[in-house]
Amino acid sequence: MSVAREPIGVIGTGYVGLVTAAGFAELGSDVWCVDIDADKIARLQAGEVPIYEPGLKELLARNVERLHFSTDLATALEHARLLFVAVGTPPTYSGDADLSAVHAVVDAIPAASDRALVMKSTVPCGTGASLLRVFGEQGKDALGYVSCPEFLKEGSAVNDFLHPDRVVVGDHGDWAGDAVTALYAPLDAPLVRTDIASAEMVKLASNAFLATKISFINEIANVCEETGADVVEVARGMGLDDRIGAKFLQAGIGFGGSCFPKDVDALKQLAGNSGYHFQLLTAVIEVNELQKRRVIGKLHKHLGGLAGKRIALLGLAFKPNTDDMREASSLVLSARLHADGATITAYDPVAEEQARKLVTGITFAGSPLEAVRGADAAVLVTEWRELVELDWKLVAEAMSGRLLIDGRNALDPETVRAGGLLYEGIGRKALEARPSEASLSGGPT
Ligand code: UGA
Repeated sequence: MSVAREPIGVIGTGYVGLVTAAGFAELGSDVWCVDIDADKIARLQAGEVPIYEPGLKELLARNVERLHFSTDLATALEHARLLFVAVGTPPTYSGDADLSAVHAVVDAIPAASDRALVMKSTVPCGTGASLLRVFGEQGKDALGYVSCPEFLKEGSAVNDFLHPDRVVVGDHGDWAGDAVTALYAPLDAPLVRTDIASAEMVKLASNAFLATKISFINEIANVCEETGADVVEVARGMGLDDRIGAKFLQAGIGFGGSCFPKDVDALKQLAGNSGYHFQLLTAVIEVNELQKRRVIGKLHKHLGGLAGKRIALLGLAFKPNTDDMREASSLVLSARLHADGATITAYDPVAEEQARKLVTGITFAGSPLEAVRGADAAVLVTEWRELVELDWKLVAEAMSGRLLIDGRNALDPETVRAGGLLYEGIGRKALEARPSEASLSGGPT
């Protein structure tokens, strides 16, 4: 016999909010979702899922009876004690996180409410303490507060929710923290129950560390290019050390997305605001910016000038299995190519709609082969499985040049070469196309 689960409210129906809502509904809670975007709520009420996230549509559909969508916060306040806050906290011009959406939620909660806010949005360390002060100023002393940072990855968010590496609950040891802990109990994940400031810092420090790992391996890749080592082999050798670990050692054209760039900036800014200069993070950001431009140098090396050259971009999203284009390396790459006078054709399995809103000067193709037709060079920008498994012989036949840049080190150089292409990765030796087939267009190699 199933035990009734605590109903919850979820404020904000973006990636984090929707996955949290669907995940807790799957665990048996009634979930009252609220968003100020009426159009989005209407779509959700009609059974549409406004974002692309594998498995989310199915999870929402399976739990449709327990999921309620509204633009009115009162519905959530009426049914739930715990209000999970999953609103956007984008960076401001100063690099601080913009907490206006969080404050709007606090302002909308009536005085004397005995509910608790459970913070899922990524916020600077100290936000919980300052919100508790605001509660006091607004006569909302009965309102509880829990920091419960989210660690899901786009593209595998549903799985990450249901199988977390850890659950972090930061609170004052009161009913709200106990209730949040109980909600996560069925997932059987290691629990870090701690104070609010530490929970907030776990989130920022985790993202900053992962970003640092990526910038580190990207710098190693750049040194590999100078020294003849292969970064893929180097990462394999390093990753087998348990203390280092194999994950997030994939060199490439830089990290993007809505989280790493923003959170690294926010932590650097947070440290700066309190008088500490976080030098390491300054370098992490700079290395990443340069890394996004690395492909341009490689194209120049092989093709000479890029004016009038036709370049195919394979993949645009900031990583596979998502349509998210925020801070995608493809944005910098396409803008640079455009500025250099290249003609750009691009294909992405799902991100085209989002990309159209952000980039200009790109012709979108309906298939990878259409994108590479007549191209002087092709660049693998996002390692979608469909792109990694392309038939490189067909690609070579469709292109007019022979250069394939693997921006994610996701391809087997020999396979690409066997297809008749010149393979150039990041931090690995370039592999010439077979001599009989080599005919690079546009200049010296
Ligand atoms: C990241 C974290 O991994 C999550 O734990 C966290 O919850 C989330 O941010 C967040 O704060 O909301 P996400 O942005 O979805 O998740 O994407 P990741 O899979 O971490 O990839 C981020 C970027 O790093 C991508 O552009 C990816 O291509 C790049 N990356 C990742 C590398 O260049 N090399 C690697 O080895 C791994």
